[in-house]
Amino acid sequence: MPRKSTARLFRGTPRNLSYLARCLRAGEIVGVPTETVYGLAADALNPAACQKIFVAKGRPTTDPLIVHISTLAELDRIAIPNAAALRLAKKFWPGPLTLILPKNPAVPAIVSAGLPSVAVRIPAHPLFRRLIRLSGCPLAAPSANPFGYISPTTAEHVRASLGSKISSILDGGPAYIGLESTILDLRNPARPRLLRPGAISREALAAALGRPVAWRRPKATKSNQAQIAPGLLTRHYSPRTTLLLHSRLTPSLLAQSGPDEAFLFIAKPSGRMAKNIFWLDARGNLRGAARRLFAQLRALDTAGYRRLHAEYATGEGPAEAINDRLRRAAAV
Ligand code: TXA
Ligand code: MG
Repeated sequence: MPRKSTARLFRGTPRNLSYLARCLRAGEIVGVPTETVYGLAADALNPAACQKIFVAKGRPTTDPLIVHISTLAELDRIAIPNAAALRLAKKFWPGPLTLILPKNPAVPAIVSAGLPSVAVRIPAHPLFRRLIRLSGCPLAAPSANPFGYISPTTAEHVRASLGSKISSILDGGPAYIGLESTILDLRNPARPRLLRPGAISREALAAALGRPVAWRRPKATKSNQAQIAPGLLTRHYSPRTTLLLHSRLTPSLLAQSGPDEAFLFIAKPSGRMAKNIFWLDARGNLRGAARRLFAQLRALDTAGYRRLHAEYATGEGPAEAINDRLRRAAAV
């Protein structure tokens, strides 16, 4: 049943952290900061607690969760790692990389949506890692947004959209990466597959593995269709306002449009400024742009514009992840 009260924000004091760890051990769900986006966490080994995540988010149970651990020693409790996974874990953890591996039978079916595989990562955010250690359990956590909406990058975002459904949010400041983790399918280490681009680029993974990493871009599917392959829903991270994408936001496009349309550039454009012109990073730094993308989309979505126009990022590394989120946000 939805709660009437609004979720409370907790700063990361030792006392607050041990209170929230007790909540998690008792089977409650808690909003948590990570370096990528905020998550909604529960004891991954407690199916009833994980069920609450799906209810709060309105997420179908066909969409599996990521399990977060705080040290590499815990990996065996969750998954059956291979040599390639251990190599990547040593290089990129703690950090924004999620590995899909064969599941340890101890992980309940609700976490993996009944699949024989499981998603796992060690997050880099120090407060979240401390909370995992204090709670003594691996924490399952999807992004803390209502299913299908833009992922939250601040505690306030979580409160704004899930505040009536949860009691507690640990405030760890704005997420410094701003996009969800890179997801790599390593069930078969001979054929690593990228399922979701993120801050750790496909090139960096390929270099560490010594072999190419394939990325099958999600095909257009209807928004509410059951997922054939989890993690590959096209429409995701979506604002409610119509979003149109352009390879370049040109002066003629701007000239043709009205004040009820907003324009989101990657870098600050030169020339005349108007109230409906926005950018992600003044100098076009792609890490900065990634960090601000979701917050900017949220702000524009509630500003009352009739339509939003955004331009694609160009280049390697973060551009792939930024463009993936833009495409998903614009998919209909
Ligand atoms: O950065 C992140 O990854 C954030 C923070 C909180 O860690 N979490 C996150 O979780 O983005 P979520 O649930 O919003 O996205 C996880 C994706 C889902 O699309 C899910 O389908 C996919 O991971 N996934 C989980 N387990 C899987 C599995 N066994 N096989 C394939 N995909 C899986
Ligand atoms: Mg999500």
